[in-house]
Amino acid sequence: MAELIDGKKISQQIKDECREKIEREGLQKSLAVVLVGDDPASAVYVGNKKKACEYCGIKSVSYELSAETSEKELLELVDKLNQDESIDGILVQLPLPSHIDEDKVIKAISPDKDVDGFHPENVGRLSIGQSGFLSCTPAGIIQLLKRSGVDTDGKECVIIGRSNIVGKPMAMLMLRENATVTVCHSHTKDLKEVCKRADILIVAIGRPKMIDASYVKEGAVVIDVGIHRQEDGKLCGDVDFDSVSPVASKITPVPGGVGPMTIAMLMKNVTDSSDIISKELAYIAI
Ligand code: GUN
Repeated sequence: MAELIDGKKISQQIKDECREKIEREGLQKSLAVVLVGDDPASAVYVGNKKKACEYCGIKSVSYELSAETSEKELLELVDKLNQDESIDGILVQLPLPSHIDEDKVIKAISPDKDVDGFHPENVGRLSIGQSGFLSCTPAGIIQLLKRSGVDTDGKECVIIGRSNIVGKPMAMLMLRENATVTVCHSHTKDLKEVCKRADILIVAIGRPKMIDASYVKEGAVVIDVGIHRQEDGKLCGDVDFDSVSPVASKITPVPGGVGPMTIAMLMKNVTDSSDIISKELAYIAI
């Protein structure tokens, strides 16, 4: 039976480290949290981010804007926050209402306050091995692997999903960790055969329980990025946990695996923001 990778415990450790650093160094950090519209899931995420800020000793400044907010108004707010020296990080919760161009908003955030790591400059920095803000979910997965004693050096890593938020930055981070990386997507031929090569299988497809034991090599480490609400009200991931856990050596549960890591890494990006901007840390958060 696979050992569980405990994202709840590891995310708590990281938040505690942030809290200790902020207290020890007397840091005054502040995160602007921008929510547009009334998507209930986004409201829950934003609420959890604000709670985590409070825990770590980070001031959160909240902007809750109506769904009718224009793109121009949102860009003006981002610009104001860029100029505001008391703000260290800007988080605009995605998805945005369809009349607002997300790419335009992401590009408008100063790369030095882009604690989500979504700005093209930070994505580019990651690709060429320079210091910058890292996308929180993939950076959190690296922490899960490291803190669970998973060796990545020379290992076959297969990532299913090529999104800008998870799949692509994940591939860059695993390359940095000296893994041999394959990225699969909806056009991949023989998906099962490719997945069965993986020593580390990272699943971010967005389809409930799609990956069962037939995709997994004996002894592989399986990371499940998906989260779905089932008809019975329970949560599940993209991985069929009951089928895969007898085959894998280590596996993340849903809930309590990757999910809590995203917020913990956001806290780490805010806490470390001055070091990241001054480029003092070569490889931040790793
Ligand atoms: N929506 C879903 N995940 C995220 C995230 O990590 N950051 C932001 N800003 N929006 C999201």
